[in-house]
Amino acid sequence: MKATANGLEGVVAAETALSDVRGDEGVLVIAGADVEALGESASFEAATARLFTAAGLATTEAQVKERLAAARVRVARRLSAPVAANGMDALRAALATLSETDTELETAFELLAATSVATAQWYRRARGEPVLAPDPSLAHAADLHRMMTGAHDPLAARGLERYLVTVCDHGMNASTFAARVVASTGSDAVSAVVAAIGALKGPLHGGAPGPVLDMLDAIGTPERAEAWIDGEIAAGRRIMGMGHRVYKTRDPRAAVLEAATKALGKDSPRLTLARAVEGVARKALKAKYPDRSLDVNVEFYTAVLLDAVGIDRAAFSPMFACGRTAGWLAHVAEQRRTGRLIRPASTYVGAEAGCP
Ligand code: COA
Repeated sequence: MKATANGLEGVVAAETALSDVRGDEGVLVIAGADVEALGESASFEAATARLFTAAGLATTEAQVKERLAAARVRVARRLSAPVAANGMDALRAALATLSETDTELETAFELLAATSVATAQWYRRARGEPVLAPDPSLAHAADLHRMMTGAHDPLAARGLERYLVTVCDHGMNASTFAARVVASTGSDAVSAVVAAIGALKGPLHGGAPGPVLDMLDAIGTPERAEAWIDGEIAAGRRIMGMGHRVYKTRDPRAAVLEAATKALGKDSPRLTLARAVEGVARKALKAKYPDRSLDVNVEFYTAVLLDAVGIDRAAFSPMFACGRTAGWLAHVAEQRRTGRLIRPASTYVGAEAGCP
């Protein structure tokens, strides 16, 4: 009997040209570029063009800008995100009403646009604010920031863009795998993205940054960090924003997001607190698990950055989806071109036939 790979840890399920997560080295390459370089200077349109092209959906930054803007306007007329308590529920419901268009690339632009438009619709409605129509003259991240906050703030919009680019793809993570499983059956891209949204919702994947901010609020000041973290670990609770299935180092995206927060130029007591809490948490987890490397992950500084650009914690997971949809769509395209039906096996541990 073959050993069961619980959680599929270390199992290679696909070949991909989209991203390479080198967990031991703390390196992330996205379609041929280091995440640090992309997060520093790429537009969201450029990152999307890079991913789509690598997946066989050839396009350019200029084409993405034009067609994504047009798609935002188009889908805004058709979509209506419900006022659900949870933004991921609203996003899942809104996107599920879409259908594929005539071409694969146009469907990809519509789904990418729809994630941002539906997130902003839900967010504004949930706060009792009027929904803002897309502005196709703006770049995608700037328009998303405006549709969310109602503000024209280029510095904050650039901070958000650096976030979206940094999280646009990340190897065979759970939501990407879910999207690829759906695509592997020959199903449509809408279904694949809706499945991915369901996977991203969980706190072990994309649901952690809101709780990270709750944790920072509960700690309050750097000098209280040690007692608070020790108390959580003693109670057997996980420290949100720490630990990763693949990285055995500090998640390289954390540094990009930390730098993006600093670049906003504001005096940020929260950034100071976050850095102090990170140090304390790393030390405490090392003491409890000396043989493991439980270091900071992407969600930790996601929380600090998104908060600093004026987005409420309730929207953190949907914002993650806004960036990651680019990667999901590229993986769906790649799976269609090079993949095979994904159908693993299981080990039966139930009763033998004939047992009473
Ligand atoms: N805080 C406290 N303990 C943690 C921990 C954390 N953040 N992350 C892992 N551990 C502990 C586990 O409790 C487990 O201990 P045990 O063997 O005594 O049960 C051990 O370390 C190994 O954890 P495991 O669940 O095997 O690691 P994983 O690879 O499956 O989990 C995560 C990876 C990300 C799910 C996990 O680190 C976690 O839950 N982190 C917090 C949530 C989070 O930040 N998610 C966002 C991920 S990007």
